[in-house]
Amino acid sequence: MDRRAYLQTVGAVGVSATLAGCQGGSDDTIVPGTNATFPPFEYTQDGEIVGFDVALAEEVIDRAGYEVGEWVDIDFGSLIPSLNDGDIDLIAAGMTIEPGRKEQIDFSDPYWEASQAVLVRADGGFQPGSVDELADRRVGAQAGTTGEGQIEDLIEAGTITESDYRQYENYTLAVQDLENGNVDAVVIDVPVAQNFTAERSVAVAFEIDTGEQYGLGMRQDDDRIADINDAIAEIREDGTYDDLVAEWHE
Ligand code: ARG
Repeated sequence: MDRRAYLQTVGAVGVSATLAGCQGGSDDTIVPGTNATFPPFEYTQDGEIVGFDVALAEEVIDRAGYEVGEWVDIDFGSLIPSLNDGDIDLIAAGMTIEPGRKEQIDFSDPYWEASQAVLVRADGGFQPGSVDELADRRVGAQAGTTGEGQIEDLIEAGTITESDYRQYENYTLAVQDLENGNVDAVVIDVPVAQNFTAERSVAVAFEIDTGEQYGLGMRQDDDRIADINDAIAEIREDGTYDDLVAEWHE
């Protein structure tokens, strides 16, 4: 199955799982969606979806004057289609503001900055210092992410071959396969890489300075984004944003 067909398949599964429990928001309610495999931004703990993005989105929706709907947890690649289908009203998923995505959805003002990290096993056996040293190695990333985009660039440049790329449904599985030796490196956002180094026997080999910014995603015809942006500005000014950073990132 090629990569696009794979994404469509997981997309279809994600959406049908969503429809069962989701009514779609009225104008007063904003139903947030995420892919809860990206600590410390969003992950599950004791069956609950938690993390920096979860706390931030709930605070922002509330300040903007709307009800927070029930969180929808689906594949990362299904988030934009589900938003545009009206199954969710807001994406809070560490999603990088990107030109291709901006053609499909709107983003709030940026709320986080991150680059990419190359994660390896902590045993010190393979310690690349640059992307050139990934040649002939098996490299993994989560489907549909900017980390995958970096690997696609390496394939295009001829540094690694298509068959060296392992695509994962989420980063938790990718990091597991890294620990097991099934891949030699994982390309993943820096703050999430750092989080995994604290819990698993993996280490950051080097960073790729992509200078990405995360935004909350909303439908292009949803005017409520103005209130969401006001609320983001407000929590930055009154110190709530810093409190959330201290709670989830330090
Ligand atoms: N920042 C990267 C992107 O936008 C990765 C985001 C992955 N997020 C997640 N919740 N799994 O492509």
